[in-house]
Amino acid sequence: MNLELDEEHQMLRENIRRFAEEEIEPKAAHYDRTREFPYESVKKCAELGLMGVMADPNYGGAGLDSLSYVVAIEEISKVDASLGVILSVNNSLFCHPIEKYGTEDQKRKYLAPFAAGRKIGAYCLTEANAGSDAGSIRTSAVLQGDRWILNGAKVFVTNGIAADAVVLYAKTDPAAGSAKGISTFIIERTFPGYSLGKPETKMGITSSGSVEIVLENCPVPKENLLGGEGQGFKIALQTLDGGRIGIAAQALGIAQGALDKAVRYSKERVQFGKPISEQQAIQWMLADMATETDAARLMTYRAAYAKDNKERYTLEASMAKLFASEVANRVAYKAIQVFGGYGYIAEYPVERYYRDARITEIYEGTSEIQRMVIAANILKG
Ligand code: CAA
Repeated sequence: MNLELDEEHQMLRENIRRFAEEEIEPKAAHYDRTREFPYESVKKCAELGLMGVMADPNYGGAGLDSLSYVVAIEEISKVDASLGVILSVNNSLFCHPIEKYGTEDQKRKYLAPFAAGRKIGAYCLTEANAGSDAGSIRTSAVLQGDRWILNGAKVFVTNGIAADAVVLYAKTDPAAGSAKGISTFIIERTFPGYSLGKPETKMGITSSGSVEIVLENCPVPKENLLGGEGQGFKIALQTLDGGRIGIAAQALGIAQGALDKAVRYSKERVQFGKPISEQQAIQWMLADMATETDAARLMTYRAAYAKDNKERYTLEASMAKLFASEVANRVAYKAIQVFGGYGYIAEYPVERYYRDARITEIYEGTSEIQRMVIAANILKG
């Protein structure tokens, strides 16, 4: 059993790390402060194939495995976690379901330009009254002739500000109980009745363009139904299995980034006549941070491996997401402690990591939802 990355994945890591440090990190604080969507950074990532890491090269993707994807999201999130989630949503939540459930025409039209990064995708499940209870969505889709007419509103849509198209879930059979009668649609931003609501002012990952998306009598061609009618909830949850691996990788990047910065600072900061790295109190914090980050990495790699080798990887994905997100929060918290007062001010980077870490325990299923999924898996059968 080899728990190290092979040469190919190590080279990939080195290349993305260099790219992230040279091209992405210098602008990260700027985008965090201004809350602008980082179009320029996204374009650079697209040139490296990072908008469609796992997608088929025949449809604009880089054709790499899930481990490569995890490595990529970790390295980008290590310097800019907003960009990490932007890439993760496009890869896992937009491109993946279209590749897995789409028709040939849908893949040509919607996978190819998005995996190549010429366009940006988003995923619309959550509504104001349907968060963890995703099956209770109310957005409706009614078939009229050869078009579905959609009405409703989706909230907290990551990438929403910039999205050229979204994968969106709506009720096509309101008589069916919760979670039944949901279908999936691919909707372009130019469709009539599609509009953006209020952009959210968030605590962290400030530049990932989260916004409300409103549909008012929005006509969607019949051929934009993704997967079978009524299959939407399963598509949403299966898609989230992969998405959760992306968020685990994002959380891992935040943890590793905060740890690296704390290690460097501890060697430079002198108090009581010596670098604080020589104080046992600091060493123990760094030791715990490194151990937990390493464990999160192994769990995230295992989930990526399961995705490439198993039909269902729900359990591995939820465990990795649960653990890595909680580690990111603990590590970022301790990184601020190592920096002391400087950790609390915006001129130093760790307060951004601390703010960015928080959402990883909430989106793509809260830690409580992950525990529900894990418990259901270990108790069944
Ligand atoms: N893959 C495929 N099918 C699955 C599945 C999976 N991972 N999980 C469940 N299913 C199937 C079940 O087998 C079941 O099928 P049958 O009816 O045929 O038996 C069906 O889907 C319904 O499953 P459950 O009964 O388990 O569903 P539930 O209503 O009890 O709830 C839940 C499940 C786990 C609570 C789910 O609602 C959930 O994950 N909620 C959290 C929602 C979430 O993660 N939202 C994130 C929004 S996106 C986001 O955050 C993006 C971003 O901005 C970055």
